[in-house]
Amino acid sequence: MNYVLESVVEAERLETQNKNELYSVEEELKGIEFSNGEKIIDIGCGTGAVSAEILKKNLQVDLTAIDISEIRIQQAKNLLPTYYKDMIKFQCLDLMDDTLPENSFDVVISRFVLHHLEEPLQMLISMKRVLKPGGRLIIIDSDGILHNYFCTDQWLMDCLSRIKEGMKLDMYIGRKLKSYYNYIELENIDVKMIPMHFKNESLTAEVNQYRERFSIMRDFFIDLLGQTDTDNFFSLYLKYLEKDSAELFYNKFVAVGHKI
Ligand SMILES: C[S@@+](CC[C@H](N)C(=O)[O-])C[C@H]1O[C@@H](n2cnc3c(N)ncnc32)[C@H](O)[C@@H]1O
Repeated sequence: MNYVLESVVEAERLETQNKNELYSVEEELKGIEFSNGEKIIDIGCGTGAVSAEILKKNLQVDLTAIDISEIRIQQAKNLLPTYYKDMIKFQCLDLMDDTLPENSFDVVISRFVLHHLEEPLQMLISMKRVLKPGGRLIIIDSDGILHNYFCTDQWLMDCLSRIKEGMKLDMYIGRKLKSYYNYIELENIDVKMIPMHFKNESLTAEVNQYRERFSIMRDFFIDLLGQTDTDNFFSLYLKYLEKDSAELFYNKFVAVGHKI
């Protein structure tokens, strides 16, 4: 996924995405409390949406934000207001290198990262490793992105099936979080599901997101479909959404679990 990580326009895409109310971080974190003095790490921080939401509550938390992409860290520093930026310790690193000390954070939080990975379970194990005993793992991720789409064009639907079969990334990670949390032996697990049904302005905004995603991930699709089918797939997928003649919906899952 290096082309996504290194893409300069990816930061702009993330910022625009977070403005769509269906992607509201505030709603995702509703009911989840953070306390003064907690040591928190935001993994795969991107442009800092999760860190900013935590700091919005005016808490005195000890907040670290890491991302594997140096470009993304720089963009987060450029985009965040100075006050937030000064409150966050940024580090550019791959969590799966396991270089952070074990048992060191009260809260590990990560949003929209696992579906980008070929080995999400390994990432969850690395996340648990840095949690203190008693600490909380909070994962926010989607389920059905790209694939929960229907239109009557059989060629397009067949293309979607080919993509699903060939893709190594897990676009259905959301529904698996509870089971994965159990597998890695977290306790007091609580999972909330938030439906995302794209209509009117939210649909227009998501169509623009797909335009960006397709452009950033073009090579990835060409590997799966070849060049001609990729071009046709992109143009038809967008066309039916623009005509409001295709259905598009996913779910977001917010999973909280505790390390014993
Ligand atoms: C879709 S973005 C989400 C950004 C942000 N959390 C948000 O919700 O807007 C995924 C981020 O995860 C980062 N990432 C992917 N693999 C990572 C890893 N192994 N360690 C740290 N960051 C990683 C990427 O560089 C990217 O910025």
